[in-house]
Amino acid sequence: MTSEKQTLWRDKALTASENAASENIVRVGLDIRESAKSYDILIGSGLLAEAGERLAGLLPSRKICVVTDETVAGSYLVPLMRALDAAEFKACPPVILPPGEETKNFKQLEYIINKCLSYKLDRNSTLVAFGGGVVGDIAGFAAAVMMRGTGFVQIPTTLLAQVDSSVGGKTGINTAAGKNLAGAFYHPKIVLIDTDVLKTLPPRELKAGYAEILKYALIDDPAFFGWLEENGEKLLKGDAAAQKYAIEKSCRAKAAIVAADADEKKDIRALLNLGHSFGHALEAIGNYDGRILHGEAVGIGCLLALEFSRARGLCPEKDVERLRAHLQKTGLMTAPPFDVSAEDMFARMQSDKKNRDGRIVLVLARRIGGAFVARDVDGADVRDFLKNKFGA
Ligand code: NAD
Ligand code: GLY
Repeated sequence: MTSEKQTLWRDKALTASENAASENIVRVGLDIRESAKSYDILIGSGLLAEAGERLAGLLPSRKICVVTDETVAGSYLVPLMRALDAAEFKACPPVILPPGEETKNFKQLEYIINKCLSYKLDRNSTLVAFGGGVVGDIAGFAAAVMMRGTGFVQIPTTLLAQVDSSVGGKTGINTAAGKNLAGAFYHPKIVLIDTDVLKTLPPRELKAGYAEILKYALIDDPAFFGWLEENGEKLLKGDAAAQKYAIEKSCRAKAAIVAADADEKKDIRALLNLGHSFGHALEAIGNYDGRILHGEAVGIGCLLALEFSRARGLCPEKDVERLRAHLQKTGLMTAPPFDVSAEDMFARMQSDKKNRDGRIVLVLARRIGGAFVARDVDGADVRDFLKNKFGA
């Protein structure tokens, strides 16, 4: 990664993101440089109740279908449907999926599409992804492929989805060969982030989302890492102001990166995959059965990426230990909760989407806040590192 590229997206952050409409609501604009696409990310308390009025002026038709999961439906579907009804939306019966990573599959995708087609949704209609990253990814993919594209809105309800998955247009499902291997870049028309819904999020899920926040700090924002060291525990205990600040910071960081490299062609957006090559391999070894959550795997993956960087003489030991100490202090995982063999891990890492021409591509770091995309990684080095870490 060159410093030129860093400047490119930081400049964009200054111009594309502006403070909001009202005291309570923060607006982050995402303007994709190479296309005419732009959309707002609204962050604040009470946005769920305002969803109808926020969407009414934006969508070409009032025909809408909410896709959610059973847990989110149990707590929040009624207020959302009321808000849509008050703005005279013609909402179809919601599509309610089982919660959890296992839902991100072809069968559930087919189920969503068939339901929506049975409700006679057309290209002017809108699918509302209302839930965590699982719902956002699969509903977004359904919107992308249904009739070659129908309207799409994100109302994320987990910390992870609010700081990462709802922003930037990556949609998809898992396949037998691995994570997110079928999907599309397909952007929502707006992202509505109601911070109030985090009150019901279990602590484990909050920590999983926190790992993605940490990722932004590790990529290029050491001052934010310092802020997280000061405020991370407070945020995880439910401090609403700290949560809102970190969500806004994360959305601005992601919007700036996506604006500069929306379809991941310039080694800028790929930085967002810090920790993911290791993390996705851990998730796959865990069989997506709930023993390790995506965010937990990303947290461990970030530590492994820094440890591997240190092993290659790139990252100082003190930065690795600073990250480990922060993960421990905030109660995040520093190692997988099951046995991992180096060979299994290496084999999984070889099917990562970033790899090219048989070579492993990894996001590494020269320091906290100094991530870069390494295209010259020797597979033998990765293998040796994993053997030292996990044993053959
Ligand atoms: P998730 O969607 O499975 O949600 C986690 C759990 O929290 C679920 O059981 C859900 O029902 C529950 N839940 C959701 N909102 C709640 C609330 N407000 N209160 C109580 N419970 C609530 O998981 P996730 O961590 O949100 O998302 C993980 C997924 O996101 C992974 O599949 C990952 O690959 C994907 N992801 C995608 C991107 C992207 O750019 N598209 C980025 C990061 C992660
Ligand atoms: N979560 C990685 C990306 O959006 O590119």
